[in-house]
Amino acid sequence: MVKVMGLVGSPRLGGNTQKLVEVALEAAQDVGASTELLTLHDKEMEPCIACDICRKTGECAIYDDVPGVLERMVEADGIIIGSPVYFGNVTSQLKILMDRSRPLRRNFRLKNKVCGALAVGASRNGGQETTIQAIHNYLLIQDAILVGDGEPLAHYGGTGVGGPVGDTEGDEAGLVTSRNLGRRVAELAQLLK
Ligand SMILES: Cc1cc2nc3c(=O)[nH]c(=O)nc-3n(C[C@H](O)[C@H](O)[C@H](O)COP(=O)(O)O)c2cc1C
Repeated sequence: MVKVMGLVGSPRLGGNTQKLVEVALEAAQDVGASTELLTLHDKEMEPCIACDICRKTGECAIYDDVPGVLERMVEADGIIIGSPVYFGNVTSQLKILMDRSRPLRRNFRLKNKVCGALAVGASRNGGQETTIQAIHNYLLIQDAILVGDGEPLAHYGGTGVGGPVGDTEGDEAGLVTSRNLGRRVAELAQLLK
């Protein structure tokens, strides 16, 4: 059985991104994957300080919650990364995790994991696609395999519109694209396994 992890980059507990990542994970379960939800709002995470120790040792020299998160990413066969749109980009919390994941790149430990992205912004065309693109760029640099939301819409991933917590409950396009993304990640992870 493949394992699909959902990573929530929001600083808000139970926010719109978490809702859509949960929907994606439910779809992954529906096609036979086991799933795990991981949130960043409750993690202690310092930014990368470019000490370059990871280039020598393969390990980060900052001892907070990040190394534990990275280990869980390595254990997954598929990863869905969700972020709120913050000024057309990912949140600082998610960017810290991306930068701190440099040790994984030393031996390309995310290579061939099937990954996808979703983003939620308060406005339609508020930067969902640019935020997804930022996540895709990260995943390409980690040599992961990217998928979008697949058939029948087949665009970039999950795209949600919502401001206050709870808004995405009625966001049909956000729910459908997130569900399709979750199914697509799980299906391809199964094919590869
Ligand atoms: C600092 C900040 C910047 C934001 N920038 C954007 C933006 O550029 N475009 C947009 O559509 N929404 C923007 N938003 C709104 C959030 O993306 C939106 O409220 C989203 O639903 C939050 O997701 P969450 O509930 O998972 O935290 C911003 C919110 C904050 C706090």
